[in-house]
Amino acid sequence: MRIEEITASTRLCGIIGDPVEHSVSPAMHNAAFSHLNLNYVYLPFHVSKENLPGAIAGIRSLNFKGVNITVPHKSAVIPYLDEIDTLAEGIGAVNTIVNENRILRGYNTDAPGFLHMLLLEGIDPSQKKIAILGAGGAAKAIAFILADKGSRLTILNRHLERAEKLAGAILHTFRKDVVARELNEKNLRVTLEDSEILINTTSVGMFPHSTEILVPPDMLRSGLTVIDIIYNPPKTRLLVEAEKRGLKTINGVDMLVAQGAIAFNLWTGKEAPLLEMKSAVTRALKAYED
Ligand code: ATR
Repeated sequence: MRIEEITASTRLCGIIGDPVEHSVSPAMHNAAFSHLNLNYVYLPFHVSKENLPGAIAGIRSLNFKGVNITVPHKSAVIPYLDEIDTLAEGIGAVNTIVNENRILRGYNTDAPGFLHMLLLEGIDPSQKKIAILGAGGAAKAIAFILADKGSRLTILNRHLERAEKLAGAILHTFRKDVVARELNEKNLRVTLEDSEILINTTSVGMFPHSTEILVPPDMLRSGLTVIDIIYNPPKTRLLVEAEKRGLKTINGVDMLVAQGAIAFNLWTGKEAPLLEMKSAVTRALKAYED
């Protein structure tokens, strides 16, 4: 759909965050809407903490079809919604809102998106030994979905208390033991010697600090699959080092597209065009680099 074709029946979607300027979600979703010729548009909204309640009220009053919620509002938004999906409630974070006749329902598509992406890559996480770096919001979504699928998790975090808190939440919800360790070289070495998959959920290596890496490259032993949820740059130093050693890698662009595809399906009822979404993200990231 072209901009001149917007009418009163055009459905509105968007993303609410602070900051939101560098989000590639508008490019990704608008490319998907165009590809399927859907009468939808997706816009970015920079909303501060104080303005969040007003923004959510606006979604309802202006009858948006839905929005994505990003940093730092994924937990703060919950009290303003009418209903919350069980998985999102357990994780304590909503990244997608759907408006159905002015009833706002919150979902977490990060977690199922991550799982879907693993399955597409031919990885069945059940019983796999998985090391997760970080214990923030993104780590929680990933750890919950993996624990639910029966993975054996070790969480390593700079501040041990946060890793322990996440391990405790998993024990409480899934009755499953999770190892929590302080993120240091010794613990990393011990953990990686006995892991099949490594997932970086921290911001280390993200633009503009693209040369940073948490894992000494010699610890990336053969047989390990390395996943980084950072999508800018698409290939972090961690993934470059892993590729050099011939390891299987998965990058954050795939995860971004996977969570976006589930949100797209919730808003439109249609199957998301994954390839178009991925190339729109890649183009947007490139434009941002130039
Ligand atoms: P998100 O919701 O994106 O996961 P977050 O809740 O701010 O963001 O979590 C960021 C994660 O990156 C945390 O695990 C953080 O470690 P701490 O909990 O110890 O702060 C981790 N992180 C950020 N910078 C880091 C660094 N320089 N070294 C190690 N870990 C870092």
